[in-house]
Amino acid sequence: MKPVSLTQYLTEERRAGYGDTDLIQLLEIVARACKRIAVATGKGALGGVLGEAGTADSISMNIQGEAQKKLDVISNEILLDANAWGGHLAACASEEMEHPQQIPDAYPRGGYLLLFDPLDGSSNIDVNISVGTIFSVLKRPGGHRGKVDTSEFLQPGTNQVAAGYVVYGSCTLLVLTLGHGTHVFTLDREAGSFILTRRDVQIPEDTSEFAINMSNQRFWEAPMQRYIGDLLAGKEGPRGRDFNMRWVASMVADVHRILTRGGIFSYPLDSKIKAKGGKLRLMYEANPMSFIVEQAGGAASTGRGRIMEVQPEGLHQRVPVILGSKNEVKAAVQYHTDA
Ligand code: AHG
Ligand code: MN
Ligand code: MN
Repeated sequence: MKPVSLTQYLTEERRAGYGDTDLIQLLEIVARACKRIAVATGKGALGGVLGEAGTADSISMNIQGEAQKKLDVISNEILLDANAWGGHLAACASEEMEHPQQIPDAYPRGGYLLLFDPLDGSSNIDVNISVGTIFSVLKRPGGHRGKVDTSEFLQPGTNQVAAGYVVYGSCTLLVLTLGHGTHVFTLDREAGSFILTRRDVQIPEDTSEFAINMSNQRFWEAPMQRYIGDLLAGKEGPRGRDFNMRWVASMVADVHRILTRGGIFSYPLDSKIKAKGGKLRLMYEANPMSFIVEQAGGAASTGRGRIMEVQPEGLHQRVPVILGSKNEVKAAVQYHTDA
């Protein structure tokens, strides 16, 4: 069978009625920008891209109060520059910017809103472990013209028209959904194009593998303590079988493992981050990942409800996250319901 490029795939999607020309162009531009991020990431120390942004005396901080890495800043700029001129977007929002970035006046404004985590897993950049980009696409609410207001972005995840992530790992992968199935494209580095390598990914419904930062155990709420406690008890515990643990600390890499062989991933609420509502950001981490996982037959919950049904109140709002193999997510949620 002839290889199917991302361009061919998107063109066929559009013909089948999934997405219009603007959406297709938007996704192509995001994919192209991610190729540039892959190049920058791949240069490592040779490209002078490692380490913190800012100066030794004053490290640059983002709106989240987190130290920005050089590659966080570079990736954010690559995505903003690439998306400025196409005429398909009304505005962009990013983990690295407090407010949405308007499309410059010099260019036409389109009907889509793009949200991204330009570089996910930044604590792994300097140690050569997989990092990634996560993105989510919404439609600008009808009737709105002129400059985009933050409130226009505050739509539940069920409104997403597309979502994806790119993992910059031993190979570069793009995982994409337009709302009917989740598909994986592998970057052919020599040819410079993404090639469809897995169509319609299905996450196994059951799993014996979990991903969580165990160092936070004593800070979790009681239901999470009980759930993970039962997994750790293994064969001798109520679950009656042993569980394995993995934690990359790059959500993209952890989610990609789950997409490949099943598993459950959680960043639950804990007493250290309770005031913030969680660790992971709803609009550009939890929602796009939930869309991708649900489209692959998995599930995604806050423990109290479906992530994609959370009504956002802020661009940088955080939520507890439990996602992955359907039956295991159901089991974890049951501990919360029982409580
Ligand atoms: P980011 O680098 O975009 O701030 O996101 C990091 C996130 C996520 O990728 C990962 O699952 C989690 O933070 C890791 O948290 P810990 O360092 O607490 O393990
Ligand atoms: Mn992130
Ligand atoms: Mn990030």
